[in-house]
Amino acid sequence: MASIVAVTGASRGIGRATALLFAQNGYRVFALARSEPDLHSLAREHPAITPIRMDITDDASRAAAVATIMRETAGYGVDVLVNNAGYGQIGAVEEVPPEALRRQLEVNVVALIAFTQPFLPGMRGRRHGTIVNLSSAAGLVATPFMGAYNASKFALEALSDALRRELSPFGVRVVLIEPGPIKTDFGRVTEQFATVSPDSPYAPRYRRYQGTHHSVGLFGRSAGAVAHVILRAVSSPHPRPRYPVTLPARLAGLAHVLPARLVDWGMSLAMGLH
Ligand SMILES: NC(=O)c1ccc[n+]([C@@H]2O[C@H](COP(=O)([O-])OP(=O)(O)OC[C@H]3O[C@@H](n4cnc5c(N)ncnc54)[C@H](OP(=O)(O)O)[C@@H]3O)[C@@H](O)[C@H]2O)c1
Repeated sequence: MASIVAVTGASRGIGRATALLFAQNGYRVFALARSEPDLHSLAREHPAITPIRMDITDDASRAAAVATIMRETAGYGVDVLVNNAGYGQIGAVEEVPPEALRRQLEVNVVALIAFTQPFLPGMRGRRHGTIVNLSSAAGLVATPFMGAYNASKFALEALSDALRRELSPFGVRVVLIEPGPIKTDFGRVTEQFATVSPDSPYAPRYRRYQGTHHSVGLFGRSAGAVAHVILRAVSSPHPRPRYPVTLPARLAGLAHVLPARLVDWGMSLAMGLH
């Protein structure tokens, strides 16, 4: 029987590339997202892909998606779960509306864990399975104007570390993927959730920060490159706990060992905020 993978956020970007790559490598794929037209266009690309509409923040929608996967697999569930759905919220911490902060944590953290939980008893019982969580370089070092997003990915890092240590005695693996800049719709969506108004006292520095986004062009990689890292991690007999992708993501890890004032200085310089 083919191994089974579920990929959230599969309508675009990293999730779409991952769903397709796993299908091309012999997996049976459940592709989940809100946008049905995008999911159906993905499913047309490979017969092993089953599209499932799901708003991950909606309890009933999530439960229905889990039930569909359980029914389609005769109660088996999945071998691999790629938790990829997510978005970024821009704004100075002082100005982020509490509702926007709540929503950011709901999508990127709470709903992700809630979607994962129903698959764990099956994986534990079989002593086999891999959970892949899409974190970010933003889960390793916090940047100005991305505090809400940073908080969500830092939380995901912590939950993934705890989950990995809880599940390893049961033979279930937990892997963090930590991309830096990846060329997807992520930036466009993030701009839609920006809360920096033109008359904000933070606006001049925010505009300079935006001006440094050319680093995406310099260091950015494709969604397919991340998909290949995910497949490599899942295929490994002993996957690493963390897979940084791109040079900025590798450098972000240094923030844990360098003095905080040095990191502040380097980041201001890199982001044009001096
Ligand atoms: N691109 C980067 O530079 C970058 C860097 C580091 C980490 N990441 C992480 O990688 C992951 C994928 O990002 P991407 O770059 O591929 O972004 P993207 O192109 O904007 O794709 C995001 C995906 O998440 C889904 N999604 C968002 N809200 C959802 C909801 N409420 N319910 C269900 N699905 C939802 C979207 O589908 P629908 O809108 O159809 O629901 C879409 O398929 C995210 O977790 C992101 O934080 C991205």
